[in-house]
Amino acid sequence: MINLKSKQEYLKIAVQKEGRLSDRSLELIKESGIFHMQDNRRKLVSKGENFPVEILYLRDDDIPQYVADGVADIGIVGENEVMEKGKQVEIVERLGFARCRISLAIPQSEKYSGPEYFNGKRIATSYPRILQNYLDEKSIHAEIHEISGSVEIAPGIGLADAILDIVSTGSTLIHNRLREVEVVARSEAVIIASPALKPVKRKILDDLLFRFQAVQRSKNSKYILLNVPNENLEQIVRLLPGMKSPTIMPLYEKGWSSLHSVVNEDEFWDIIEKLKKLGAQGILVIPIEKMIM
Ligand code: PRP
Repeated sequence: MINLKSKQEYLKIAVQKEGRLSDRSLELIKESGIFHMQDNRRKLVSKGENFPVEILYLRDDDIPQYVADGVADIGIVGENEVMEKGKQVEIVERLGFARCRISLAIPQSEKYSGPEYFNGKRIATSYPRILQNYLDEKSIHAEIHEISGSVEIAPGIGLADAILDIVSTGSTLIHNRLREVEVVARSEAVIIASPALKPVKRKILDDLLFRFQAVQRSKNSKYILLNVPNENLEQIVRLLPGMKSPTIMPLYEKGWSSLHSVVNEDEFWDIIEKLKKLGAQGILVIPIEKMIM
């Protein structure tokens, strides 16, 4: 545990007060052992209990500016906001949650021929900078209508011919009879840092990233235990690299071994199918709380 002294420097972390990233960001902070707190979002600022951080609860579109100005040292924010604001900040970690696309969508009834479709059209968006960059890149001349919310209703009420907005599951588009025709950018939650971080704060950031990575890795992995027939052991070991290599212990029953390993969430079902085909039995799958490499 880090001892917090009276003259301690605190790393100020800006997190989204509410919205798509808020819960997952606070969960990550909590699972990293910084707070044993309940929800503090009604406050403006809260201090880490045993780690030198201060959490500032802010609106997501303000976070890049606060980090660029050094009001916050780092921020957890959607990459879409970083791209849109174009501030001087450094992405120091990609967090893999809140993944989404920033896409152009048009009414379902419209025929789509390609990006030149947008020539002369009115496009509603909360992301005018991302849109302008895309239009410039494709040499398309369109009218941008900047609106701050409920972009998806703009074509239906005659305010625009198309929209550029965040698409995650796609259900908002379907609900509004729109269809996604171009993916302009992809986004996920990222940690941004002020380029002018003092070395003492950089050190706190490194310690914090170490904790975050341990939590993130554990979420992407499962611990598995299984009984395997010795004649297929070699093939099974090749399927399961584990953190270093799998642990193998003989079973009391001759010709069988118990094998322990760690598998990646993405490959999990694929590997389980293959293991079963190779005669594995009694497969136990256990969540991992933290994973330190
Ligand atoms: C975004 C976007 C859509 C919705 C799309 O809004 O503006 O409304 O998500 O998600 P879906 O594809 O899963 O339906 P968000 O929830 O981020 O809130 P916002 O309107 O405040 O940006």
